Amino acid sequence: MADVKLVKVSKRFGRQVAVKDLSLEVSEGSFTCLLGPSGCGKTTTLRMVAGLEKPDSGDIYIGGVRVNDIPAYERDIAMVFQFYAIYPGMTVFENMAFPLKQRKWSKNDISRRVREIAEILQISHLLDKDAMSLTVGEKQRVALGRAMVRDPKVFLLDEPLTNLDARLRARMRVELKMLHQRIKTTTIYVTHDQLEAMTLADKIGVMNLGELQQYDTPENLYNRPANVFVAGFIGTPTMNLVECRVSRRGGGQSLAGEGFTFSADSLNGRLRDLPEGYEVIMGLRPTEIVVDRAERGAGLIGKVEVLEPIGDKSILDISVGKTLFRAVVPRTFDIRVGETVSLYVESERVHIFDKNTGVRL
Ligand SMILES: Nc1ncnc2c1ncn2[C@@H]1O[C@H](COP(=O)(O)OP(=O)(O)OP(=O)(O)O)[C@@H](O)[C@H]1O
Ligand SMILES: [Mg+2]
Repeated sequence: MADVKLVKVSKRFGRQVAVKDLSLEVSEGSFTCLLGPSGCGKTTTLRMVAGLEKPDSGDIYIGGVRVNDIPAYERDIAMVFQFYAIYPGMTVFENMAFPLKQRKWSKNDISRRVREIAEILQISHLLDKDAMSLTVGEKQRVALGRAMVRDPKVFLLDEPLTNLDARLRARMRVELKMLHQRIKTTTIYVTHDQLEAMTLADKIGVMNLGELQQYDTPENLYNRPANVFVAGFIGTPTMNLVECRVSRRGGGQSLAGEGFTFSADSLNGRLRDLPEGYEVIMGLRPTEIVVDRAERGAGLIGKVEVLEPIGDKSILDISVGKTLFRAVVPRTFDIRVGETVSLYVESERVHIFDKNTGVRL
């Protein structure tokens, strides 16, 4: 096991910047996810750690050793890709034994190790089967098993669950988590699925356009997103992000948007130094908006435009002035399209970002 450290790592392909000035520390034994939209540089980052791609600038350390000039096969890492690589014409046992054979392990040691890992992955009963005859989920486990037999310093996983159907994916997610709790190998896991990242990771690095946006615990990413990009990327349904201006008309302090005014006296600390008319983006999570009947509530007043039942909850689209807010309410909340409602959010649940820089205020 080892920690992994990237210091100001950059990589371009021709004129395309794939990764820019990326600094990241993955502590020994921890599970880090790289999360971001397609093309944001996740795979390139992983390939640089693996030694399959050379950074243009910056340094990469594994276990405190600078590995920039150390070839991939000497880095003692194991990588599993989205497209599981199964060697055809081999049994499951032979597939898993392959990396050990290459390293000239003895027959007995190979047998013991493969059986031990097969046990952990619950594929012992498949060892004598032709690997190509397995289901997708079983193949993915064999690919994982082949990576694990060596007990590498670091695991690099690139969207390993992408090809599985939703149910199997959810199960494998839980299995991966249990597996990591048991073997505690330092892991970097690439995904564009926020749910996967939020449930698996100790820390998540959110990337966009080759740049790291925030590297933090799932909890902090959710509660204190560092900028508008992270705020909009993490959480379902997506956070309401609404353009507003700081207003102090009539003594109090408020955020004025398209056709509404949000009383913001309790946000004093964060807005205090901003001049009248300053442009911000207000972020409200749909799950943190309290919707009530208009006659009872305080706060913004709006009209229910759309109601989407999703199991035990409903998503409401509520127009407030010219702005549409989404809110999640319990299914038992008796409301109909066209009714007037009030929206209320606790002040510490209101996110405010600078409109120009996107940075959290
Ligand atoms: N070998 C390459 N040659 C040219 N451009 C590349 C190469 N590899 C990656 N890129 C470009 O670098 C950028 C980052 O690509 P990368 O594959 O790292 O993204 P990603 O986050 O893994 O995306 P995805 O979620 O689609 O897998 C993209 O714009 C991509 O087109
Ligand atoms: Mg990729």
